[in-house]
Amino acid sequence: MLAGLVAGAVPAAAEDDPFDLLDALWRQQTEHPPMSVTVPDPAGHPRTIEYVEIDGHAVTEGDIVIGTAEEAAAGAFRFPGARRAGRVPPVPDGVPARSRDCRAPGAGTVTAQDGALWPGRTVPYEVSPTLPAAAREALEAAVRDFHGHTCVRFVPRTSEEHFLRVVPGDGCYSYVGRSAGAGQDLSIGQGCEHKGIVIHELMHAIGFYHEHSRADRDAAVTVHLENVIKGFESQFKKLDPARTRLFGPLDYGSVMLYGRKFFSSNGQDTLVPAIPVEIGQRRGFSLGDLAAVRTLYQCPPPRP
Ligand code: CO
Repeated sequence: MLAGLVAGAVPAAAEDDPFDLLDALWRQQTEHPPMSVTVPDPAGHPRTIEYVEIDGHAVTEGDIVIGTAEEAAAGAFRFPGARRAGRVPPVPDGVPARSRDCRAPGAGTVTAQDGALWPGRTVPYEVSPTLPAAAREALEAAVRDFHGHTCVRFVPRTSEEHFLRVVPGDGCYSYVGRSAGAGQDLSIGQGCEHKGIVIHELMHAIGFYHEHSRADRDAAVTVHLENVIKGFESQFKKLDPARTRLFGPLDYGSVMLYGRKFFSSNGQDTLVPAIPVEIGQRRGFSLGDLAAVRTLYQCPPPRP
C-alpha cells in the first residue's frame, strides 16, 4: 500500500527531460558578442549573416557551425547546400516553399546538397579522450536510438577522411550534414549531456536544420522578433528553399524545433505555435523526425 503511494509521488520514471536546461544553453551563446558579415547572395543581393565565435568556430542559430572563425570573417562559409550563383531566384518572405519532397513522409528541414549526406548511411566518429563520462553515456544512448529506429549507422572511425570529432566544447554544436574538409567537430559540452540534446546535434550532423527555419513555417508558428535579443534576430530567419528540402508539414513535436522563449530578451515568447502545444522538446525523436531520417537516407522498410 505504502509502496503504491510512494510510487505515485515519484515523477514518472526519471524521464530525462532537459527542457529547462535548454534555456541555459541558448543563454550561454548570448554571452558571446554577436558578430556579422555581409556577403552577396547568389543573386548578388547583400546578405548579412550573424554568428558568434565559439571554440574558434563560427556558430549561428544557436548550435549550427558554418565554418571556422577565420573563414566566417572572410565571408567564406561552409554552408551545405550552398547553390551555384544565379540558379534559383531568392524567395521573398511569406511565399510558401515548394519542394520536390514536400509530400515525402516525415517532417523536417534538410540540406538540399546530396554531397552533405553520409555515403552508405554510415557516419564514422571519433570521441575525444577528454569527453566526460556523462557526455559519453548520452552519446551512446543517442546512437542506440538511431540504430534501433533508423538505418543510419554511427561507427568508430578507422581511416575515413570525413568523420565526426565528438568533443567537449563550449556548449553543444554541430555542422549541418557532412562538411567540406576532413573531420568536423560536434560538441557535447557542459549541460548538453542528455540523450535528446545529442540526438538533436546528430540530426544536424546528418543533414537536418532547425524545424522553425522552414520556409513554409508561417502557417504553423509566429515569430516575435520584437522579443528577440538584439543581434540574434537571424536565429529566426527562414531558410532559402533552394538550400533545403522540406519533408511533411512543420512538426511541433520535433527534436529540431526551438522552444517558445529561445533568445528572448524580455521573457516574452519568441516562437508561438498556432495551436496550444509544447514545443522545443529534447527528450528524443518524434515520429516525424524518425520518418524524415528514414526518408532522407532511403532506409529500407522495416521487416514485418
Ligand atoms: Co540546433
